[in-house]
Amino acid sequence: MVVRPLEVPLDGAATSHALPFAEPEQAPPNLPPKGQLLKWIGSKQRFAAAIVATFPKNIATYYEPFIGSAAVLATLAPQRAVASDALAPLIDLWSAVAERPEQVVAWYSERWQTMMDGEKVNVYKELRDRYNRAPNAADLLFLTRSCYGGVIRFSKIGAMNTPCGIHRPIAPAEFARRAAAWHERLANTRFVHSDFEAMIDGAAAGDLIYCDPPYSDSESTLYGAQKFTLVRLLDAIDRAKGRGVRVVLSIDGSKRSGQRVCDVPIPHGLFATEHAVTVGRSMLRRFQLPGQTLEHEVVADRLLLTWTA
Ligand SMILES: C[S@@+](CC[C@H](N)C(=O)[O-])C[C@H]1O[C@@H](n2cnc3c(N)ncnc32)[C@H](O)[C@@H]1O
Repeated sequence: MVVRPLEVPLDGAATSHALPFAEPEQAPPNLPPKGQLLKWIGSKQRFAAAIVATFPKNIATYYEPFIGSAAVLATLAPQRAVASDALAPLIDLWSAVAERPEQVVAWYSERWQTMMDGEKVNVYKELRDRYNRAPNAADLLFLTRSCYGGVIRFSKIGAMNTPCGIHRPIAPAEFARRAAAWHERLANTRFVHSDFEAMIDGAAAGDLIYCDPPYSDSESTLYGAQKFTLVRLLDAIDRAKGRGVRVVLSIDGSKRSGQRVCDVPIPHGLFATEHAVTVGRSMLRRFQLPGQTLEHEVVADRLLLTWTA
């Protein structure tokens, strides 16, 4: 991948040669809801404000085909959106948050009370076994809040196998406060259980798609992501771009930190702009200018945009 080298130091101090800082188009800046509703490995909650700041103002329909914990969607709180994921109980859960938040609070409160009344790890294992016998939104919700590190991990045969977390799950009153806040922000979103490709193929000119995919090489047992391949995603993005859809792709920059180099096969010309997003910092640079590889740079997260901001 040939890109222009960074001209802004990673500490954010701009040099006189620096490219212009990417100005947020939305004012006031969108902030995420206070506190995640789900604990979710790979959640973009901490980066969501910086990610949303790169989005254009005029979005016909916002698409997010790898919705996970919905951090970016809830930060944008769009007027019209379609959110989807390959994990069916997760979509049932988000639909319930959007349509019947009181039921979601009841699901959480019942399970929290059962855990407080019993022996924590045993209650957790019973809940996990029940989920594995019949995957459902209510049990998935409590598993995400009580499992170790919010890691939703599946065995090769598709059983959720994360151990119990060492923390105490948040109290029902705090969960209810969060559920109300998230409900408001998801009011205009339609949730769909689907593989990403069909959703991306459904977007039209004027729409924006934000993609935060799993990493096919390291996350094959996370989230039930077995059918994901980056090549398939990049092809779908290419088709969408051809129809006039703007696409933003998150790629984990830390994979180039030195311990492990990730050779993401990004086709030449697919993306026009790159932002390096870290907590509280955002830097802009352009692709396809004569330059060097980025192999030895350390950044927290990368955002690739199909258009020039
Ligand atoms: C990195 S997580 C997204 C995290 C999200 N941005 C957040 O803030 O929580 C990737 C998501 O992709 C979903 N996924 C995996 N394979 C998929 C596929 N083939 N189609 C659609 N979604 C898929 C997983 O279930 C998971 O929720």
